[in-house]
Amino acid sequence: MNLLEARGLGKAFGGVTVLQGIDFDLQAGEVHALMGENGAGKSTLMKILAGVHAADTGEILLDGKPVRLSSPREAQDLGIALIHQELQLMPDLSAAANVFIGRERRRTGWRLDHTRQLADTQVIFERLGLSLDPRRAVGTLSVAQQQMVEIAKALSLKARVLIMDEPTAALNPEEVEELFRVVRQVRAEGVGIVYISHKMDELRRIADRVTVLRDGRLIATQDMAGAEMDELIRLMVGRELQQTAHAAPDLSAAPVVLEARRLSRGRAVREASFTLRRGEILGLAGLMGAGRTELARLVFGADRRDGGDRRDGGDVLVNGKPADIRSPADAVRHGIAYLSEDRKGLGLATGLDVEANLLMPSLARFTGALGHIDRRAGQSAAQAFVQRLGIKTPSLGQTVARLSGGNQQKIALAKWLLRDCDILIVDEPTRGIDVGAKAEIHRLLRELAAAGKALIVISSELPELLGLAHRILVMCEGRISGELSAAEATQEALMALATRRETEPA
Ligand SMILES: Nc1ncnc2c1ncn2[C@@H]1O[C@H](COP(=O)(O)OP(=O)(O)OP(=O)(O)O)[C@@H](O)[C@H]1O
Ligand SMILES: [Mg+2]
Repeated sequence: MNLLEARGLGKAFGGVTVLQGIDFDLQAGEVHALMGENGAGKSTLMKILAGVHAADTGEILLDGKPVRLSSPREAQDLGIALIHQELQLMPDLSAAANVFIGRERRRTGWRLDHTRQLADTQVIFERLGLSLDPRRAVGTLSVAQQQMVEIAKALSLKARVLIMDEPTAALNPEEVEELFRVVRQVRAEGVGIVYISHKMDELRRIADRVTVLRDGRLIATQDMAGAEMDELIRLMVGRELQQTAHAAPDLSAAPVVLEARRLSRGRAVREASFTLRRGEILGLAGLMGAGRTELARLVFGADRRDGGDRRDGGDVLVNGKPADIRSPADAVRHGIAYLSEDRKGLGLATGLDVEANLLMPSLARFTGALGHIDRRAGQSAAQAFVQRLGIKTPSLGQTVARLSGGNQQKIALAKWLLRDCDILIVDEPTRGIDVGAKAEIHRLLRELAAAGKALIVISSELPELLGLAHRILVMCEGRISGELSAAEATQEALMALATRRETEPA
């Protein structure tokens, strides 16, 4: 019997159909992957199964019996737990308090039983093979550890169905391994797991079956073992994806547009020096915490992420002249733009519509001599990007908060692409973006470089850097530990520099 089954599920938001006729099932002890382009309806489907949204049509069965899931609480009580695309823990509370939030263990007299919560959390952590102190505030944990707390919370709820929405979007390779180990363990205990991801290689490794959604419809469900990746991608995007060949141009004669000299900030960035030429795509590789984002933020004049002190040494030169960049506004004035890696703090005004968000940084470009805004020009530029990146929105007037996670990410990127700047720093530009749009974004970044812009691309996905960058800098513990040309760069060479292991001479 199916552990969980959906029959004929349908859902519309404000008259727009986002799911239609979905028949989906989940077995105990399987990992069932859910694939689909940004906006295909993956998160919405899972939110229906977890009681967050009500379906307009269809029914849901648990152990073959119809169930009503009119709130997340009801779903939880039935053993269905959803780990959202954006984690939803309370940063100031301990891991244990988060595990038991909303159903705190109490002693007589309603006093919180901290000791018991700690002990119970410890037991679950041990069962998962985690060495994590349940007393630690969740805000001090890494994203990976926070995921583990969410999983522990689900298990403490005796979840039989665990839904994970892009759990590895912000994890480094080691953390992904750790997560997989835990997922396999939970699967072995008989839990049914739905696993949403855009990362094909991960799906191949972890999933038993895969379901593809496209435009709100279920296209296919099949065993992962016999599945061809190209075929899955074709089912997902509805067409063949063309790969563009990558050839690094000779840029040795191109002018240096940006130079960093011995930039330093505490232990995060130590004496980092580099140059960036016109027309160049410079990759920045390194493990999580190696200092890549901190370096980018230093160049951009942004404060430290933890709000601590600012740059404590070094210089930035733009077009050969010292640039006194003390704030992002200074950086923008020098023609530098920065797309932040942080999805929650993307700098989107999520309450405003798509058009306002896209045009916000480039209003000057569409403002005439007399100060009036050429709305038509702005709109057509915005519309062009919506089409190009396949941003799924009913109109330019849609509120950004209503777009899917990946489509919000596309807006954040398009916003900076629309603003015409000479130096563009993009931090994890395709995190959470589907494979089709990803190829399009890569093409766009290459075109920008070919048109004379200079780009710095930070990415944790080595294949992305290898496919895109003309030259790659590797960071390790705040220092630039090496530099590889496109020709020399391989995953092994990059990893060796990122972990500072000695490489064999080439
Ligand atoms: N609360 C809402 N109001 C209006 N439209 C919504 C709402 N939530 C989702 N949508 C729309 O439903 C469609 C499906 O969104 P969903 O978040 O399920 O996509 P997804 O497959 O999870 O995409 P991604 O890979 O980007 O996370 C999108 O077009 C989205 O804009
Ligand atoms: Mg989603």
